[in-house]
Amino acid sequence: MGRRLLRVAFASRASAVLTGSALDDLVAASAARNRQSRLTGVLIRSDEILLQWVEGPPDAVCALMQRVGQDPRHHDPRLLAAGWIDRRRYPHWPMRLLALSLQGHAPSPPMPPDLPDPFAAARAFDEAAVHHLSALRRRSAWNADAVSFAKQLVRGLCEVPGALPGAVPAPVRSRAAFVDDVCAELARGWMTDGWSGADVSLGLMRLYLGLHRMRRCPEPAAPRRSVLILRPSAGTEVVSAMVKADLFRAAGWSVRLALDPGEATLARVLAATGCCPIVIAGGRLALGHGRIEANDFATRLRARCPDRLVVAGGCDAGPLAEWPERLEFLVDVQGTDAEVPVVWPMIAAIASPHRRPFEHRWRLIVP
Ligand SMILES: Cc1cc2nc3c(=O)[nH]c(=O)nc-3n(C[C@H](O)[C@H](O)[C@H](O)COP(=O)(O)O)c2cc1C
Repeated sequence: MGRRLLRVAFASRASAVLTGSALDDLVAASAARNRQSRLTGVLIRSDEILLQWVEGPPDAVCALMQRVGQDPRHHDPRLLAAGWIDRRRYPHWPMRLLALSLQGHAPSPPMPPDLPDPFAAARAFDEAAVHHLSALRRRSAWNADAVSFAKQLVRGLCEVPGALPGAVPAPVRSRAAFVDDVCAELARGWMTDGWSGADVSLGLMRLYLGLHRMRRCPEPAAPRRSVLILRPSAGTEVVSAMVKADLFRAAGWSVRLALDPGEATLARVLAATGCCPIVIAGGRLALGHGRIEANDFATRLRARCPDRLVVAGGCDAGPLAEWPERLEFLVDVQGTDAEVPVVWPMIAAIASPHRRPFEHRWRLIVP
């Protein structure tokens, strides 16, 4: 593995001067500088709120943060998260400006009203990741493969697939991106081509069995973090739970997977997994009740375990392949619920690899 990268996400309010073309100019100049420093990321504008995600070599990130912290074109900057990452989330964007709304992303749990809600910010970064991925997708050959693969799954021509099409590279992330495409195609066929629910369900089952036959990712020998993946009921697809388990393991997480747990099993698995975050599998098809069930289940679980981070999945929760980055960010955000002043250059220390989730609680306030 190469040198680890630092990821910093912060929110601030744009000053009156930073509107329209001034913001475009700032982003163009930033992108040019970031290219030289091998920084990538996204700047999201929602009314006067700015959210930025910067990733890259730690020295370059810290140097940038020091400059940004003193920039009069914005004010009230607050750190959302700082942490080490193994891979870039926006590798093809030296800096991209997106106008996204923060409305409609319900705070969970509610944050003080004067702060930009970090969970809403997380959703905005997820949305940006979808844009990033779809920009890449246009250059990939797998989409056509996914379309014909989905057709084969539904029509039963390949009873249970033993392999993915040859063009799909082996890494778990590529497989996840491909599965996402296949699921999107299954949903499209159901909605617009009149594929029956039974055929689509059968197709998903074939996909599930096929994935089982393929090489799965083993538990890491020395896991960095842990996660519990729950599929609340038989109504939601198991494919996404399974692919997520592989993705998290490949990213160094220890994964406990519980499918359709009854009350006794649920109580046991909750007790056995301490305070690790919980991901609810919500299905990738956005059809039927899977997503609603997952969200209801997540709400009930949050009430039952107020100390745990509970995140519901589903096809509107961002690309499958992004889950490790997504949860990593939310875990970092979870650690920021007290106000301990720190200064920009200390970000690297905060993001120390020795820091354990939930151990340090801080929020950045620029003096
Ligand atoms: C919200 C916000 C985000 C910024 N992001 C970047 C960035 O990603 N890269 C960058 O080089 N400058 C960025 N800047 C501009 C820096 O604050 C700074 O003006 C610029 O790096 C030039 O620094 P210098 O004038 O000290 O050389 C950003 C400024 C603001 C207000």
